[in-house]
Parts: sequence; structure tokens; C-alpha cells
Amino acid sequence: MNILLLGSGGREHALAWKMAQSPALNKLFIAPGNPGTATVGTNLPVAADDFPSIKEVVLENAVDMVVVGPEDPLVKGVVDFFKADNDLKGIPVIGPDKVGAQLEGSKDFSKQFMFRHNIPTAKYLSVTSMNLQEGVDFLKTMQAPYVLKADGLAAGKGVLILNNLDETIAELKSMLEGKFGAASKTVVIEEFLSGIECSVFVITDGKHYQILPEAKDYKRIGEGDKGLNTGGMGAVSPVPFADKVFMQKVEERIVKPTIEGLYSEGIIYRGFVFFGLIKVGNEPYVIEYNARMGDPETEVVMLRLKTDLVDLLKGVAEGNLNEKTVEFDERTAVTVMLVSGGYPEGYEKGKVISGLDKIDESIVFHAGTASKDGNIVTSGGRVMTISSYGKTKEEALAQSFKNAKIIEYDKKYFRSDIGFDL
Ligand code: AMP
Ligand code: GLY
Repeated sequence: MNILLLGSGGREHALAWKMAQSPALNKLFIAPGNPGTATVGTNLPVAADDFPSIKEVVLENAVDMVVVGPEDPLVKGVVDFFKADNDLKGIPVIGPDKVGAQLEGSKDFSKQFMFRHNIPTAKYLSVTSMNLQEGVDFLKTMQAPYVLKADGLAAGKGVLILNNLDETIAELKSMLEGKFGAASKTVVIEEFLSGIECSVFVITDGKHYQILPEAKDYKRIGEGDKGLNTGGMGAVSPVPFADKVFMQKVEERIVKPTIEGLYSEGIIYRGFVFFGLIKVGNEPYVIEYNARMGDPETEVVMLRLKTDLVDLLKGVAEGNLNEKTVEFDERTAVTVMLVSGGYPEGYEKGKVISGLDKIDESIVFHAGTASKDGNIVTSGGRVMTISSYGKTKEEALAQSFKNAKIIEYDKKYFRSDIGFDL
């Protein structure tokens, strides 16, 4: 089978790496991909949200299935685009349609969905300029810290957690006035939940589901979880506190009602669901849904997934995911992200990367890299991620840190405390 994967980050390199191991795969294409994906498939110079060009390459290359990495094409309706096109409608696209992608694309939509299906999540109120006073009154009933979220996609920057009520009210007004553009025309005010977070991943054919290995990611730039939020600086799987009892609660109270809720509402969801969870006391709550896999969580989840990913994706397309079994590797997998100095604020690009040929016993997934004059150079904030296996997380981390030091480029930075809190 010929597969086209959309996207260009570390997540996509890890998905491509895993799919390339499948005996069911004939040709793998990645649009637009990166120098890492080019080592396991063929990159095509097409943007992941350029639907007319995607149509062209799908027909030209006899693509049998499309797998969507990032949220953008999903929220923009790539699944709906395929369904509405006579030449494309028979080709399965792994990912939810535009309505299903609202689980990630609109915090207001996802909160309403969770409340309709009694899925544990923080109390909230959605506010627009029409009911600002109601929002202010709601904030006054709550205690610090206060959580404000832009309703729409804001490149991971749309969540503010503030300690002062007056400041929170001022920020609420500024968000409604367009601090995050159209994304914050609606703001979700949430109760603050205190606990430890983890990510749970599910693959679904719309009716059945399979749970994939869970992971914990490290979002802050600085060691000890300090400083600005990033796309993710590293990840660990398994997550020790997500034990059998906890995961049973997650499945019964969160995963099942989500999949059944989507189905009962007629929302066609064939793809990955990412549950951003927080453990409060011993109970799981949903912080957010994403309509895709996590990055860099995928760079550990794919290491721990023993099952053939292409076979699972076929189960999604054919609606018989219940007939598949998912096997986990018993070992621990970790990943450490190398970033450009300055990230997540301003940083320079085009730094030559060396040492890639000296890496042993780790798997390097490219994120923000490019090929230039025979070299691999940096081209983004998150540059590459180094994944390793170990009998313990300490063993796996030692391997990744060793290789993180071998790779060199000007102003390289990584967190050397991934997994510190587990
Ligand atoms: P989100 O984009 O919704 O995942 O929010 C980004 C981060 O903000 C989360 O990973 C949490 O660390 C934090 N956060 C979001 N909502 C809450 C909440 N209700 N209580 C505590 N922390 C939260
Ligand atoms: N690592 C968090 C995310 O992918 O959104």
C-alpha cells in the first residue's frame, strides 16, 4: 500500500520511521517532510494544508491512504475535502473531519462536549464581548490561580495562568479585544486544577478504539519546569503514576465516553485522539483534547508500540480496529529535544549540524532541520530529538544525553533533567 503522510516535524519522522517497518507498506511519501523523513520515504514539496496540490500528488503517486500528522490540515477540513471530491472520496484519510477536529480547534466546543458526556474536567465559563460581565462575576467566585484560554488555535500560546484577579480581568478584556487574533474572540475561563499531567493516546475507527502507550512530556524551556512554554522539550514512556488502577479510570470515565459520545453525536472520527490529562489526587481529569498525536510524545510512543502501525491504520480505515491487538514494548523509551538557543523566543537558523554519523544506540528524529549545500542545518526552534530505549528511564536517559552531547551546532540547548519528577 502507498501512504502519504502530511507534516514535517519530529512527530512525522517518528510516524514515518514506524510505518516504514511495515511489510504492508509499498511506498511512503511525506509532504513536505524534512531531511529525516527523506531517509525512510520520499519527500514531496507540498505544504500540509495545500489541499489542491495534495490532490495532485495523491493521484500522481497512486496513494492508497493519507495520514495527517499536525492539527492544522484537520481543523481546515482535509478530511471533508477528500470526501467531497469524486476522485478522492475512496481514499481513506486518517484523522477526524472538521467537526471532530473541533475537539482541539475550539476549547468551548470541547468543554461543552465533555459536560454533555459527563467527562471529568475543570469547571468553566465561555465568555465573549457579549457576556463579559458574567465572566468577571464568574472569576470573582473563584480562587487564584485563574486560567484563561483562547477558544481557537493559538500555536500553543493561548493559555494564561494568572495569580492576580485585577490582572486576570484586564487580560480577559485584552484577549476578547484580539490579543490572540480571532482565536481569543471567545475565551474559556477555567477552574485551576492542581496535579501531575500525562498524555494518553487512542486510535479509533469511529466506533472501536485501542489505547496506545501513554507518555509524559516536558513543556517548559527551563530545567525544573521553569520558564516559557515550548512545543515540548522531551518525553518519557511509560509514566509510572499512570498505573493499572489509574488507566482503568481513564478508560472507563474518559476514553469510552469520548468515543461513544462522538459516535452518538454522529461525528465521524477516524484517527488519533490525544487526551491531555491531569491526575488530581488519584482521579483523572481532561485538561484538553488534541485531534492528533503529541510531539514529542510520538517520538517515544512509536518506540514502545510493537504492533505494526500500518495494520492499525488499515483497521481504522476498514472499521475493524476491534479485531487488532496492540502490544507494548516492556522497555522504557525517552526522548530529549535539541533546540536552537533563544527558542521559544527569537533564534537564528541555518547552523550547520555535525555529529549525526557518530550516534549509536539512539534514534534521531529530525524536527526543524533542512538540507543545504550538502549539510544538515537548523531551520526551526525545535531541531531534533534523540530517542532511546532502556531497562529503566535512567538507562534510557543516559543514552540520549550522551548522544545529545555528541551532536553539535552553534547555540545548541537541551534540558538535561527530562524525567526528573517521575
Ligand atoms: P492546554 O493548551 O489546554 O493544554 O493548556 C496548556 C497548559 O496549561 C496545560 O498543559 C497545563 O499545564 C495548563 N493548564 C491548562 N488548563 C489548566 C487547568 N484548568 N488547571 C491547571 N492547569 C491548566
Ligand atoms: N506535546 C504536546 C503537544 O503535542 O501538543
